[in-house]
Amino acid sequence: MAAAARINPQVVYLPRRAIQRAARRFHTPFFIYEESRIRANCARFRDTFRRYFPDFAPLYAIKANTNPELLRIIFAEGFGADASSEVEAWITRRLGAGGLYTGNYTTAAEFRFVLKTGCFRLNLDDISMLPTIRKIGVPEFLSFRVNPGISRGGMKSLFLAGPDAKFGVPLNRIVAAYRQARALGVRRFGIHAMTGSNVLDERYFEAVAAKLLEIAGAVKKALGIDFECLNIGGGFGVPYRPEQPSLDLAPVARGIRRIFDRQCARFGLRAPQLMAEPGRWIMADTGWLVSRVHVIKRGYKTFVGLDAGMNDLPRPAIYDAYHHITVLGKRPRGRLQTVNVVGRLCENNDQFATDRRLPEVAVADLLAIHNAGAHAYAMGHNYNNRLRSAEILITRSGALKQIRRAETIRDLFRTTNIPY
Ligand SMILES: Cc1ncc(COP(=O)(O)O)c(C=O)c1O
Repeated sequence: MAAAARINPQVVYLPRRAIQRAARRFHTPFFIYEESRIRANCARFRDTFRRYFPDFAPLYAIKANTNPELLRIIFAEGFGADASSEVEAWITRRLGAGGLYTGNYTTAAEFRFVLKTGCFRLNLDDISMLPTIRKIGVPEFLSFRVNPGISRGGMKSLFLAGPDAKFGVPLNRIVAAYRQARALGVRRFGIHAMTGSNVLDERYFEAVAAKLLEIAGAVKKALGIDFECLNIGGGFGVPYRPEQPSLDLAPVARGIRRIFDRQCARFGLRAPQLMAEPGRWIMADTGWLVSRVHVIKRGYKTFVGLDAGMNDLPRPAIYDAYHHITVLGKRPRGRLQTVNVVGRLCENNDQFATDRRLPEVAVADLLAIHNAGAHAYAMGHNYNNRLRSAEILITRSGALKQIRRAETIRDLFRTTNIPY
C-alpha cells in the first residue's frame, strides 16, 4: 500500500476558534491575520541569518501586504522596508521606518518623492536611470539591481531574471553602470538581485549569492570598488500544498555563509553586509481569507459559490496558484466530494480551486482559504466593481481588532464626478 503523503502543519494550520469568533462579529468575506505568527516568522528569519551573519539586515517587501498595522509589527521586529512605489515609501516614512527603494522604469518625480522622505536608499533597476539621478541630485550611496541571467519561479509565467525579464542591469553593462555612477559622484555602493519567486530549493539562494559575489569581484577588479552591502532579494518560498515541505532557512543561511567565505577570498573582496527582502515568507502563512458559501450549483461540475472572489485573492487566476481550503466545522476526513470553489465575478478564472476534494459543504458554511497573508489583499482589485474586504488582526492577547474596514460604494466613487 502506498504511504500516505505527510501533511505539512505549516500549510494546514488555522486559528479555528478565533476565525469562528470573527465570523460571528464581522461580515464575510474578510482577511484575518495572526500577530503571534507574524512575529514568530520575523524572529525566525532575522535570527537564523544573524547566527551566520551577525550584521545581517532584514528588509520586508512591503508590496506583499501593506496594511499599516501589520507593517508596524514587522518594523518593530527589526525589519526595514523594501519599497517599490511612492506610496510604499510614504507609508514607511509615516510609520517612522526606512529602507531600500527598488523601482523599475521609475520617473524622475517618483525618485524625487522617495529621496525627499529622507529614509530610503536607492537601488536602480538599470544604467538608463543614471541621467535621471544626475538631474535630481546624486546620492552618496547607490545600489544596482542586476540581472544575472539565472531565475527560478514557483509560479506560472513568473520570470524575474534572464533575457525575458524586464528587471535588472544585464551582465554586460554592470561594470559600466558602477563606473558611470562613480563618475557622477557616488561614493558607497550596494549590489542587489531578485531572481526567484516562491523558491523552496535551499541551494538556490547559495547560487544567487555566489553569482552576485562573482559580479562584485568583476566590478572590484575593473574599478577597485568594494561593496558596502549585498542584497539577495526575496523569493523565499512557502508551501501552498499540504504535501509540500517547508523551506528550511538554517541550511540556506549556512550555505550562503560558506559561499561568502569562499567567494570573498577568491575575489579579494571585503565581505559586504548581507541583506534580504522576503515578503511571502514573512506573511503568507499568517493570513486566511474567510468566506461563506452562498450557492451550490450542480452543473457539469459541482460549483461552490463564495461571497469572496478573485478580486480578493487573484493568485489562483493569475498564476494558477494552489491555495489550501478548510471547511470550518467539518471533519477533513469525513464524507468528501469533488467541487470547484468559485467567486461571483464574470470571469471563468474566478475559481479558487478546481476539482478539489473537500468535505461536503452546505449553504452558509464557512471556508478559510489558507496562505492569504502575502500577495493576496495587496494584489486585490475592484473588477466588476466588487468592493474590497475588511482585514482583522488576532492580537497577541487573542483579541480581534479590525485593521481595515470593508470598502463601501462611497469609497469606490469618491474620486469620480458622480459621488454616491
Ligand atoms: C524587488 C522585490 N523584492 C522582494 C520581493 C518579495 O518577493 P517574495 O514575496 O516572493 O519574497 C519582490 C516581489 O515581487 C520584489 O519584486
